Amino acid sequence: MIEQHRCMFCHTVDTPHRAPSFQQIAARYRDVPGTPGMLEEKLRKGGEAHWGDVAMPSAAERGGGPLSASDAHALVKWVLSQ
Ligand code: HEC
Repeated sequence: MIEQHRCMFCHTVDTPHRAPSFQQIAARYRDVPGTPGMLEEKLRKGGEAHWGDVAMPSAAERGGGPLSASDAHALVKWVLSQ
């Protein structure tokens, strides 16, 4: 699913590239209550920047097509387990 949605175009698991690595994201949010819901929203609709100047583009802007709530849930769960 990560490949289908082209997440690795900007992210990698362990090396910051165009975007924070998934390990950095997991370390920052793993113990923060409410994180999964916030990140799922963000994956689907985009949102404000939390890491730098560049916000995460919405699913439509990323060109991978619409992202369902259940897919967003699965992706966020995977990211936070890195
Ligand atoms: C076009 C580049 C790009 C693509 C493709 C992309 N991301 Fe991101 N992502 C970013 C950038 C840039 C940030 C940092 C945004 C910020 O400062 O909040 C980010 C941040 C994030 C965050 C942390 C958000 C926050 O609020 O701290 C998560 C989680 C995430 N991405 C997951 C994903 C997943 C899962 C995919 C695939 C569905 C994906 N990204 C695809 C560029 C991208």
